Amino acid sequence: MEINHIFIVGAGTMGSGIAQVAAVSGFQVSVMDVIPEQLERARSIIAKSTEKLAAKDMIDQQQLAAAANIRYIEDFKTLAQADYVIEAATENPELKLKIFTELDHLTEPDVILASNTSSISLTKIAAATNKPEKVIGMHFFNPVPLMRLVEIIRGLATSDETTATAVDLAKKMGKEPVEANDSPGFISNRVLCPMINEAIFALQEGIGTAEAIDAVMKLGMNHPMGPLTLCDLIGLDVVLFVMEVLQRDLGDDKYRPAPLLRKMVDAGYLGRKTGKGFYEY
Ligand code: CAA
Repeated sequence: MEINHIFIVGAGTMGSGIAQVAAVSGFQVSVMDVIPEQLERARSIIAKSTEKLAAKDMIDQQQLAAAANIRYIEDFKTLAQADYVIEAATENPELKLKIFTELDHLTEPDVILASNTSSISLTKIAAATNKPEKVIGMHFFNPVPLMRLVEIIRGLATSDETTATAVDLAKKMGKEPVEANDSPGFISNRVLCPMINEAIFALQEGIGTAEAIDAVMKLGMNHPMGPLTLCDLIGLDVVLFVMEVLQRDLGDDKYRPAPLLRKMVDAGYLGRKTGKGFYEY
């Protein structure tokens, strides 16, 4: 089936980034969110990002115009016209399962339903639908317009055809797809979040200041940003959620979240999105 119209569910940081990349890659794009302010925020983020990329000749005027043509909508009314759906809602299992049940009812049987989940089992998400063979994980990375990876995760029932279509779509969006098994945190967050969590333990134990911990990883390991800066970018709530999934689903306390991480999330210090995390913005 030819893909022309991609429908994105959720206009947060990831949803808007995915929408932008899909639009500049030549697809018709609709982004849906139940919160109107979120849609306005997405519109402004996409405009700023594409103007910046155009100023650096990383995209041309036609691509800039394509991004300005993204449709921002508050309901599922146009979902029936979609050829492909990418869900990028909040990382909340109950919410995702509910959304997938609804997507299943409102889309044609051959339409693929992809999820940008960073840690929830694709097998479980797929089981909320009547077409588990059409459900797949397409995990993008923040900031989506700049990061090259899309992690592709098959659920137990995902078909070869669905996987091939998702891989092909990721390539058409200018990304490099890499397949990972449906295991908690997949490859990316199984490795990344424990590293960030350990950096938070180091901070909590006074081994170094936030600046020192970040400097060590930037200057000594050539990471583009230190783990605490990165945690602020990802969102402390997201990192906490992933650590809880790893600890619970792998049954190993080596994945226990740092108490300081939990405390900061309780305080509402979620990183860049709230203006305060390990640093102030
Ligand atoms: N759109 C357009 N331009 C952008 C942008 C965006 N969304 N985000 C940043 N830029 C631009 C900046 O404005 C800057 O432009 P100027 O040089 O003109 O000022 C340029 O990119 C470079 O940015 P910076 O100077 O701020 O910093 P940098 O050189 O370190 O690059 C970075 C920024 C690409 C984000 C880099 O720091 C990096 O790769 N960091 C690691 C990011 C990472 O690990 N992401 C994955 C997180 S995990 C995840 O997302 C998934 C999960 O499940 C948790």
